[in-house]
Amino acid sequence: MILIAQTRRDHLPLDASPARYWNYNSIYSPTMSTNNHNRGNWKSRMGFILAASGSAVGLGNVWKFPYIVGENGGGAFVLIYLVCILIIGFPIMLAEFTLGRKTQLNPVGAFQELRPGSPWVGIGYMGVIAGFLIMSFYAVVGGWTLAYIVKSVTHSVLEFQTPQQAGEFFNAFIGNTQEVLFYHALFLGLCLGIVIKGVHGGIEKACGILMPTLAVLLVILMIRSLTLPGAMEGVKFYLYPDFSKINGEVVLIALGQAFFSLSLGMGAMLTYGSYLSEKENLTSSTAYVVLFDTLIALLVGMVIFPAVFSMGLEPTQGPGLVFNVLPTVFTSMPFGTFISIAFFTLLAIAALTSGISLIEVVVAYFIDQRGWNRKKAVLVVGAIIFALGIPSGLSFGLLADAKFMEMNFFDHIDNITSNYLLPLGGMLTAVFAGWVWGVPAVRNEIEKHETQFHWAEIWGFLIRYITPVAVACVFLGKFFN
Ligand code: PHE
Repeated sequence: MILIAQTRRDHLPLDASPARYWNYNSIYSPTMSTNNHNRGNWKSRMGFILAASGSAVGLGNVWKFPYIVGENGGGAFVLIYLVCILIIGFPIMLAEFTLGRKTQLNPVGAFQELRPGSPWVGIGYMGVIAGFLIMSFYAVVGGWTLAYIVKSVTHSVLEFQTPQQAGEFFNAFIGNTQEVLFYHALFLGLCLGIVIKGVHGGIEKACGILMPTLAVLLVILMIRSLTLPGAMEGVKFYLYPDFSKINGEVVLIALGQAFFSLSLGMGAMLTYGSYLSEKENLTSSTAYVVLFDTLIALLVGMVIFPAVFSMGLEPTQGPGLVFNVLPTVFTSMPFGTFISIAFFTLLAIAALTSGISLIEVVVAYFIDQRGWNRKKAVLVVGAIIFALGIPSGLSFGLLADAKFMEMNFFDHIDNITSNYLLPLGGMLTAVFAGWVWGVPAVRNEIEKHETQFHWAEIWGFLIRYITPVAVACVFLGKFFN
């Protein structure tokens, strides 16, 4: 126990636990008690909601959501996505926060503490593996956004009259080995630098300003998009559900996106919950994070699709969609250069705050469970993620033809994590919370220091019956398609 207490305290002097990053107005005391669970807390509710929203809002909302909506038929997909958020995402997020707050540990440690030595600990390990894998391709796309900040400053992305030209430029860029790997390393390095040193006072405050700024900028862009000629075609595609396009595969993708976008199924929210003090209201915090994440994604769709249709493009362009369409929109706007720089900067920051949470899960595991110090954990984890990311980075250039089942390496890692690992991790977390640890125990934890858990009955029903069964059905539906 003493050993554990010491290794856990390794979080503290290094200034680097997320509790430290996001502590709004907090007075952080380095002389923590010897209670080995006392790793520091979010001192304000706002700080916690911002940190969790920072994890949730990222490339998943701005880059991934529009292109998979585009590829999977528009409105009907959006509707299924929203249902997944409500009946699967919400209950699981609440379960993850509660598990984290109860155990004050990383995902492996959390399941180990509640059911020592049982197979349930495997959920934690799956989360750590998912963290490695997701971050490897996430850092590649994060690198693309950094490159687009630079290319907005030098104006090279803003010289196109048509998205086709912008698309050619984008394809040439993501096929350029040196550039892609350079920006991949840069993005990963920035995330690692934050996780290793801690974020000096400013970042969490900065996020408090930047996240709302991103929302405001998106509203401005939405107005621009909606006033383009022919924009309504896009709105129709986005909002009008055509169910003929829905099959098992599409439902699985919507489900995977719900997990990816809300950062669920791999212990990121569990880890953030572990830095939470007991007086916070878990249910309403969950509601805020889910609502914010969903609104941002929906807003991005309202920016992209009107523009896509107005420019006579196909919405099925895959991962390049945002990078091809937006620069052309910016070019046609007053202050386009400035807006382009601002947009890609905000996107990079949103990606950074998600990347940090992905790395933190893995790093917290090595610190808590393996007794590594933070520096060693960050360096080793960073090196592995960089190496894993190389084939993803080259998937649109050198390795573009190395396809297996019609998908390149990048697509496979994305598919395995988003569509299998995260939903499976989430389903098992739901079964664990609902049946193994049990609804009464969860309820106790939620009601510990706060008002009554009014939704306990509904939540208990969802987490025991609906959530796991729905995920299982989606898996089965996919296999028997
Ligand atoms: N939710 C993040 C996004 O939408 C990605 C992420 C997934 C972060 C899983 C943490 C864990 O970009």
